[in-house]
This record gives sequence, C-alpha cells and structure tokens, in this order.
Amino acid sequence: MKIRKASANDLKAVCGIYQDIHTAEESGRAVIGWERGVYPTERTASEALQRGDLFVLEAEGRVRACAIINQEQLPSYEAADWRYPARTDQVMVLHTLVVSPDSVGRGYGKEFVSFYETYAAEHGCRALRMDTNEKNVRARAMYRSLGYREAGIVPTVFNGIEGVHLVLLEKQAGPDYRMMGEQLKALAETDAWYVPLLSNASALLYEQLERINWAGFYLVREDHLVLGPFQGKTACIHIGYGKGVCGTAWERNDTVLVEDVHSFPGHIACDSASRSEIVIPVRKNGCVKAVLDIDSPEYSRFSEYDRRGLEEFVRILEERAEF
Ligand code: SME
Repeated sequence: MKIRKASANDLKAVCGIYQDIHTAEESGRAVIGWERGVYPTERTASEALQRGDLFVLEAEGRVRACAIINQEQLPSYEAADWRYPARTDQVMVLHTLVVSPDSVGRGYGKEFVSFYETYAAEHGCRALRMDTNEKNVRARAMYRSLGYREAGIVPTVFNGIEGVHLVLLEKQAGPDYRMMGEQLKALAETDAWYVPLLSNASALLYEQLERINWAGFYLVREDHLVLGPFQGKTACIHIGYGKGVCGTAWERNDTVLVEDVHSFPGHIACDSASRSEIVIPVRKNGCVKAVLDIDSPEYSRFSEYDRRGLEEFVRILEERAEF
C-alpha cells in the first residue's frame, strides 16, 4: 500500500471512483451528499492534478482511494468557532476523500487521514481542518474515532450542491516526528553512546511535544529496569519485569499505549498529575535494551499518529545507539 501524489495516468482511476461513488449513492448504498455531474466531477480531479494537490492510495495493483490536500479553506470555514486558531498558512485541509466502494472496510480511509496528518505536520501546520456532509454518518464516525472535533454545522451551497448542512471538523496538527528523527540522527553522528544520545533524545521529545510532563528512558538491567536519561520530575528508580506500564512493554516486547493510567492495573505513579502514557521498547539485535516512556497530564493524549511517529523515532535509536 502506498499513498503518493497523483499523476496524469491516475486521472481515469480517480474519475472511476467518483462515478462508482455516485452510483452507490444513487442506489442508496452510500450516503455522502454528493451529486453526479455537480460534485465531484472529472474537472474536480483534473484541476487538483494541475494544482499538484491530488493524492492517490494504491494497493494490490490499483488505485483504491484518493483525496485532495491543500490549504484552501471553504468560505463556510470563516465564521466557524474553531478551537485551534491558526494563521491561514498553518492550516491544512483534507478535501474529497473517497474510497472505492469495492474497497471499503480495509482501513484505507484511515491510512489516508494518517498520511494527511503527517503531510500537514511536515508542512509546518498547526491545525487540521476539513468538512463532511451532516448526512455522512460513516465519515463522521471515522473522524470522531480519529480524534476530530465537530466545530459546527453550517447550511451552505457546497460546490454547487444546494441545501447542504456542512459539518466542520478540526484537530490539532501533530508534531513533525520526521524532523525530530533528523535531529536525532545528527546528534548520533557526534557520539552514538547511549548516555549522551538518550539524554538528548529525551530533551528533544520534552522540548517539542506539547502537553506532556515526563519523557525519558528506563534501561534493562538484569531482571529489572533502572531509571535512565529523562526530562521531568524525579521518578521511581527500579521497575520489575512485567510491572507497571514500562515493565509490561518490556515483557510484551511491544508498545503499550494507556489512555487512562487509572484504569491500567499496576500502573506506577511517579507524578500524580499523569493521566495517559505511552511506552515503546528500544531493541538491539532482537533484545529489549531500554524503554522510552512519555507521560501526559491529559487523558488520552497519545494518538495513533503519535504512536507511529514515536515508533519511527525509536527505530532510529535502535539503528544508531551504542549500548
Ligand atoms: N508510569 C510508569 C512508571 C514510570 S514514571 O511514570 C516516569 C509505569 O507505570 O511503568
């Protein structure tokens, strides 16, 4: 599966998906609120292609989904009660996300949203904004599950379609994990020994992630974890194998994302203000050498976007750190 900028060769496939969506809507199999011949049309796709903001998802040999990603906010966005204010050049908008009706239910829509979020972060955006039709309950449920907030519902004429009630959605753009990874690589160039590298890695995370209160590492020492380089309040020094969130991530050899630490049995509270936490094992030659632990005072602070970004960050440590 790959998401990439569309080329002229993709135009036929994109228009094919638009046609299939219109057919699905006309037969009552989908409720999106679009109209054949009005929106979206071949012109929608070809204009986006010209602008360079048409993207396609290719899987199993063909285009399965497409979307337009740019910084153009619709006129209806102007009066909305946005919770995350941002300059117009710091807002990225996802338009006209469509999944081929024969490929729904495979997670392609979510993959596209994840691509869009990364793209926004890499373009220095602070806010994610988009819209959907009030009737499109499927899309609304997906965006809700991905952490989007409905900022309002406004009556409008949408791209030529009369009487549309447009749901305006928003989310804060995440940090640019790729850039943080590049910074980490540069630090590893000077000295890859784990003491300076993990120290600076925790400083990078603590400085650049918002709404967190602890970022650092626990190191594997025989049958327990011992506190390593970190930023934040003083923390507990030893954690047993399988104990707390950190010991559990070590035991499972997998990321543990805890939305609410109070409902995680055995959670070790170092700072009573912590509400959510993510722990990612750092491996070397297949063995867990350390865990990265990040805590937040906010319930459910870490999204799928953060999990992916932080796992990428940890991959760089795994490649470069010398333990
Ligand atoms: N909460 C962690 C302990 C470490 S501190 O939060 C920094 C845990 O349950 O493993």
